[in-house]
Amino acid sequence: MIDFHSHILPGMDDGCATTEEALQAARALVEQGIQTLVASSHYLPGHYELTPDMLLSATRDLQQTLDDAGIVIRLIPGCEIMVHQGMTERLLKGDLLTIADQHTYALVEFPLHEIPWFSMSVLEHMVESGITPIVAHPARYYLLHRDTEEIRSWYCKGILAQLDIASLFGLHGSDVQRFAELLIRNHLVHLLGSDLHGPSSRVRLWKDAVKKVVKLGGEEYFHVISETLPRMILRGEDIRLLVPSPRRIKTFSIRRIANAILGNDTVD
Ligand SMILES: [Fe+2]
Repeated sequence: MIDFHSHILPGMDDGCATTEEALQAARALVEQGIQTLVASSHYLPGHYELTPDMLLSATRDLQQTLDDAGIVIRLIPGCEIMVHQGMTERLLKGDLLTIADQHTYALVEFPLHEIPWFSMSVLEHMVESGITPIVAHPARYYLLHRDTEEIRSWYCKGILAQLDIASLFGLHGSDVQRFAELLIRNHLVHLLGSDLHGPSSRVRLWKDAVKKVVKLGGEEYFHVISETLPRMILRGEDIRLLVPSPRRIKTFSIRRIANAILGNDTVD
């Protein structure tokens, strides 16, 4: 299995602080069945300004350390880039690292409590430029919780979404969990990741996450988002014909019925 999102590189951002922490996290992932891990340290303008050379070299160094320690996991270089104006041009110039340095896919995040006005135009410009945006942890953006329509529109625009598995277990609150489950039920996410920041409990959620995604989204959908799509993306291949079509499945919820009676807006 492939874990598509992690902050395992030691000392690069707010993730693993030491090599020992990175080794502990990697060991736990291997026990959970992970064979490949994208090392996606933050690129946050003004805070973490990691260049492709820095990330490629840190990924190589940690891979060597893992190999020496006998921990069998393959690291893939990547970066979780905070959306900012001009980022497409910087990606095209090679100033920001794409997934596996293939120049075809890039992991993008938004601030959790606001989505800047220029975000969609930046993502659409990326698509037009041949770099497919993958939005990290979509369930954690509260402004998207009203319904699934905004995330449905991403599908038509060629924008992918990557769920962090902790969202499925309430680690980011019950609203995030509810929305994460809704996204899986409706086949609106295309990749899974731990978003680990250290050897914490998050890395031990994979086996339970597998069961939950299969239960909510079905066996075939799970296989596509955990194996088929990530493997192709890591090779820089075109996945457009294989992206699952969104479904429209509504969920029973006391809160939803109460809100409907009271005339409040709610998640569908
Ligand atoms: Fe992250």
